[in-house]
Amino acid sequence: MTFERKNIQKMQGYAPGEQPSTANIIKLNTNENPYPPSPQVLTALKSIDVTALRRYPSPMADSFREAASRLHNISAEQIIPTNGGDELLRLVLTTYVEQLDTIAVCKPSYSLYPVLAEIQGCQLKEIPLLDDWSMPEDFLTQLNKSAAKLLILVNPNAPTGALLRVDYLAEIAENFSGLLLIDEAYVDFIDPELNYDSISLINSHDNILILRTLSKAYSLAGLRFGYGIGAKSLIEPMMFKTRDSYNTDYIAQSLATAALDSFEYAQENCKRIRQSREQMRTDLRELGLNSPASQSNFILCQVPESIGAEKLYQQLKQRNILVRYFDQDRLRDKLRISIGTDAENAALVAAVKELGNL
Ligand SMILES: Cc1ncc(COP(=O)(O)O)c(C=O)c1O
Repeated sequence: MTFERKNIQKMQGYAPGEQPSTANIIKLNTNENPYPPSPQVLTALKSIDVTALRRYPSPMADSFREAASRLHNISAEQIIPTNGGDELLRLVLTTYVEQLDTIAVCKPSYSLYPVLAEIQGCQLKEIPLLDDWSMPEDFLTQLNKSAAKLLILVNPNAPTGALLRVDYLAEIAENFSGLLLIDEAYVDFIDPELNYDSISLINSHDNILILRTLSKAYSLAGLRFGYGIGAKSLIEPMMFKTRDSYNTDYIAQSLATAALDSFEYAQENCKRIRQSREQMRTDLRELGLNSPASQSNFILCQVPESIGAEKLYQQLKQRNILVRYFDQDRLRDKLRISIGTDAENAALVAAVKELGNL
């Protein structure tokens, strides 16, 4: 006897990357930021008035919305604060996708999407990326044939690190009758010379929603704070109908606001991470582990057959170095490695070198 809905009975659930409780681990498996949050976040934490916790928080996270509206130069009505980016994904499905509707995603991409589709009882159309992880030329044809109501694109892609151009995103939105959700969890790690700026798309396209998170660039994965950006007509139904009345808490709102207000600090860390990313790619390439260019805070390395990706993952784990292995088609010969501090990256490279020589 079970009370679960049939599709919940059948499904597996999301398998998050390991979160070990011991401290002496080099943790390069869940794309966290190796640097601490900004000093302004610490000040905000220290100045939390515990008696304020008696009361409910601002229902719409007003100060945060204002900070985000200043940062992106858009109106507060175009922003919805959420309990991590993951809550926004869930809200988009609850609000915009019916049971049995189709959701389209690329393959590979963020492994939570298929899980959310299963929870909602939706069909999933996975459109395979090409071997170099670029989009197939007939992407739009495949998308429209699927009659998807929602397309989710991670940009830069996870786990590949590949970036789609803004004009390509606009072209998709213009030739697709559904909603396009651009998951920009890793947007702050894009090389600034590329001038990537998708925010302006929301003023010209009322079927584009953008996901942002404070988990990566702002070093606040433990806080659980993200937000959505889109036309007022897309934000309002989620803001006033489908989200929990107090979906972000008082402490999180205060710290998240301080984080956005110290945006330059996060930018500096992202710059260091970009430099380390290139160093890590070079060092691993010299050991025979190639990875395509990444615009993110991780790289996807091809592991030579003589070493074996799963074996290398296990051996690194034995040495207290965690990276991500995906037991999935086209990924079983690869490892996704998050960029850590230079010391952590050097320890990883040294361990790979030693293990490769065994
Ligand atoms: C592609 C992608 N989107 C969204 C998220 C959600 O992040 P969070 O819920 O921590 O804001 C993640 C987290 O790893 C991610 O990799």
